[in-house]
Amino acid sequence: MDITNAVKIIKEAKHLTALTGAGVSAESGIPTFRGKNGLWNKFRPEELATPEAFARNPELVWKWYAWRMSIIFNATPSRAHLALAKLEELGLLKALITQNVDDLHERAGSKKVIHLHGSLRIAKCSSCSHVEYLKEPPHTLPKCPECSSLLRPGVVWFGESLPLDILRKAVEELSKSDAVMVVGTSAVVQPAASLPLIVKENGGKIVEINPERTPLTAMADVSIRGKAGDVLGKILKAL
Ligand code: OAD
Repeated sequence: MDITNAVKIIKEAKHLTALTGAGVSAESGIPTFRGKNGLWNKFRPEELATPEAFARNPELVWKWYAWRMSIIFNATPSRAHLALAKLEELGLLKALITQNVDDLHERAGSKKVIHLHGSLRIAKCSSCSHVEYLKEPPHTLPKCPECSSLLRPGVVWFGESLPLDILRKAVEELSKSDAVMVVGTSAVVQPAASLPLIVKENGGKIVEINPERTPLTAMADVSIRGKAGDVLGKILKAL
């Protein structure tokens, strides 16, 4: 029944957008942040994912990110990533906004991807504007070829704002949207968690896909309890 309702919303939408989180990549073997086996249960964000942590101990921070990069660079897109790429190919999904710092949406074939929290494929200079693409995780402390300062992972850390141009793009897409699919996010990290409300406030619909309830569940028009790969697979079949 929920699948039928979700399919109806997807088919009727003129501008459908998706907001994804770590749950979409969980099926590719990438750990999520919260929950029983979540990264933030095993590691302390204030020691690894803040500008202060990097200033204090860049070796530790890079070691942790290099470990995450090695998992992510070796992972392959899941059924959920592939299904979302298919929805875009079919012309049904107009943009995909992700909190994920992996590149699995792109590797699955999604074209219009907005990375709210940055990307682990990018290292950027901590002093100048130099940015570089990482094919491999760095094995030693990476330095900027322009100014010799330390490079840092190209992600948004706790205590940092989202890049304004990226946030603006996401808001623009959602302001045009009459439906948004919220897939695999605990919806607790702001401002990402509130973005679907832009659609709701404009009279649009929210379809949530998550094995668990989230703070967005009460606002969702359809909330489907299940794994992203299974649910999106069923939705694609029913379209
Ligand atoms: P979380 O780890 O907070 O939440 C993952 C969500 O995925 C949970 O709600 C799970 O129930 C759900 N989930 C687990 N397996 C799933 C599956 N197979 N299919 C669908 N859903 C599944 O991850 P995010 O919400 O993405 O920030 O976290 C948001 C931000 O917090 C991250 O971007 C990161 C973190 O600190 C930065 O890196 C800046």
